[in-house]
Amino acid sequence: MWAIPLIAGVAFVLVYVLKGVKTYMELRDFGGPWSAGWTRLWLLRCHLSGSINTKFTEVNDQYGSTARVAPKMLVTCDPELVRRMNAVRSSFTRGPWYTSLKMHPESENIACYTDEDKHTDMRSRTSHGYSGKENVHLEQDIDDLILHMLNLIEREYLAKPKEGLFCCMDLAKVTSYFTLDVISKVAFGEPFGFLVANDDPFGYMANMKQFLPAVGWFGVYHELTNILRIPFIKASLPGSMDKRGLGRVMGFAKERVSERFGDKAVVRQDMLNSFIKNGLTQLELEGETMLQITAGSDSTASALRITAHFISTSPPILERLLGEVKEAIAAGRISRPVIQNSEALQLPYLQACIKEGLRVYPPITGMLAKMVPKGGAKINVGGVEKYAPSGTQIAWNSWGLMRNKEIFGPDADIFRPERWLASEDTEETQKNMLRMNETLPLVFGYGRFGCLGKVVANMELNKALIEVCADASFMTNSAD
Ligand code: HEM
Ligand SMILES: *[C@@H]1O[C@H](CO)[C@@H](O)[C@H](O)[C@H]1NC(C)=O
Repeated sequence: MWAIPLIAGVAFVLVYVLKGVKTYMELRDFGGPWSAGWTRLWLLRCHLSGSINTKFTEVNDQYGSTARVAPKMLVTCDPELVRRMNAVRSSFTRGPWYTSLKMHPESENIACYTDEDKHTDMRSRTSHGYSGKENVHLEQDIDDLILHMLNLIEREYLAKPKEGLFCCMDLAKVTSYFTLDVISKVAFGEPFGFLVANDDPFGYMANMKQFLPAVGWFGVYHELTNILRIPFIKASLPGSMDKRGLGRVMGFAKERVSERFGDKAVVRQDMLNSFIKNGLTQLELEGETMLQITAGSDSTASALRITAHFISTSPPILERLLGEVKEAIAAGRISRPVIQNSEALQLPYLQACIKEGLRVYPPITGMLAKMVPKGGAKINVGGVEKYAPSGTQIAWNSWGLMRNKEIFGPDADIFRPERWLASEDTEETQKNMLRMNETLPLVFGYGRFGCLGKVVANMELNKALIEVCADASFMTNSAD
């Protein structure tokens, strides 16, 4: 009697082992940590460490520009391959990793569709709203929140040396408050109110701090997303009636969406309106609204805070930027009270600082894994052609990409805006600059998967960095 379960057990183990061996052999051409070829635990541990950026970079440094990090997962820091996978006519698709970006129990969003047609369709219907083409208040909305942010800083954190008063400001919080208020204002016409409250009034950020790492874990074990995570989201966020965290934001989003329908529909030319005009359903809008908020806030806040941090802690850099600002204000090239985006683009040192901030700390390091199409793909690793079978996922290592010493120079680990202003007097230096120019924009993804909020993000960075400086340069002037 016991023989049957025993034989079944042995057969099961055998099949399991053989499958593991087969999977291991399929990508054996690629280097990588040995255990990563057999189990996803290496990759999970990597996520749990909170530093996939440096771990992936170590892997690419040691095993080549495309290397293995899980049985069916490679990671690449090769700009050529990133462009190839994301290009408009590429046959690579989004891998199952993307299901981990689902964050609404019923509705999907543009960032998690793995169906190519659905994604392309959604992209064409939302891109005008995101880019500001159908969002006439975009710049004015951002200006308003710049003033709110300056007001908060002046109100709460300005040092008053004469009174012996010096303050600490948590740059991480203030930058997040700013980008969260901006996104809700440009998306549906009303800021959440973080800057006015100078607080996380409904525990959204605290919730995100738990939620975002979970995206990473579920990205490793993507099969669990539908069976574990969505019920979890459902259970932890009863409807959108919750008074706190992500649920509260969902509720807010749901209300803003429902206001646009029915007899007394609110009409306002913003992102939401553009999406509605382009035929998104109410449920699609709810999914999209959640994504706007999560995709648009943490990424931009991260860029803003790291750039402000590096500028303000490097006296020569700060001085040079303040110099540029003072001169431009004196020459009337900076509108008051808030600089226009077109004016900021004319300030070369500011632009160099922004590029450098995005480069040394690319805001999105998560895997964004694309999938090898039918027929497999040949991948060049340090001059050797290797073969990846169909179904293999290839994640990006944005940190490794942006710190590539061959592209950005031997001091690629250092924040040095001057690298973007190097003279281009020889063919050699021009070629180097071109490579830097072509690699940096990859921080926003590329091609048919590239970031739709780039215009908004750049506008926020341009304005926020200059206005914080303009305030500072005004202070030093008045103290003179
Ligand atoms: C510095 C700030 C930002 C960075 C570095 C950034 C970067 C990225 C990256 C790397 C992707 C994914 C590409 C892929 O899947 O391969 C992405 C997608 C996306 N981003 Fe951003 N982003 C930023 C700000 C924003 C803002 C402010 C918004 C909204 C206004 C936004 C909206 C989106 C959307 C909607 C997508 C999905 C595009 C698609 O699925 O086709 N992003 N972004
Ligand atoms: C690199 O980009 C900057 C600013 O966008 C531009 O002024 C410069 O000419 C570019 N250089 C090359 C070689 O592409």
